[in-house]
Amino acid sequence: MSSMTVNGEPIRYRLDPATPLLSALREASNLTGTKFGCDSGECGACTVIVDGRATMSCSVTIGDLEGAQVTTIEGLGGAHPVQRAWIAEQVTMCGYCEPGFIMAIAALLRASPSPTSEQIDALPNICRCGAYPRIRRAIRRAAAAGRGDAA
Ligand code: FES
Repeated sequence: MSSMTVNGEPIRYRLDPATPLLSALREASNLTGTKFGCDSGECGACTVIVDGRATMSCSVTIGDLEGAQVTTIEGLGGAHPVQRAWIAEQVTMCGYCEPGFIMAIAALLRASPSPTSEQIDALPNICRCGAYPRIRRAIRRAAAAGRGDAA
C-alpha cells in the first residue's frame, strides 16, 4: 500500500510496494500517456515529475514515493507552454518519446527558465525519430513564452 498525490488527486495504491511507478500509473490509474520504453532508466519515455523533479517512472517504486506529488502528462492539461511550443514547432513524428520529453522539459524550464545549451543537451531523453532540432526549437519557444518574450 502506498499513498501519494497524482495529478492533484490523492491515491492509495493497493499494490506491492516494489511496483514501479510506471506500472502503477499505466495499469492501476489508467494514465497511459506515460510510455513504457527501455524499462531500465535510459530512454526517458516514462518521465513524470515527482516533487518538482523529472523522474523516470520505470526506475522508482511506489514504496519509495509515500506522500509524493506526482504529475503525469495528463496533469499538464494540454495548454502548458511546452505543449503549445511542441505543436507550434511541429515536433511530433512517431510521438512515442513525446510525453516523457515534455515532462522533462517542463521540469527543466521550471528550474531554469532560460536553460543553457548544455542543460538542454543534458536531458537524458531519446527520440528514435531524431527530431532533436525541432525539440530544441520547441524548448527555446517555450522558454521565451515563459519569460513573456515574443516567441
Ligand atoms: Fe523508463 Fe526508458 S522506460 S527510462
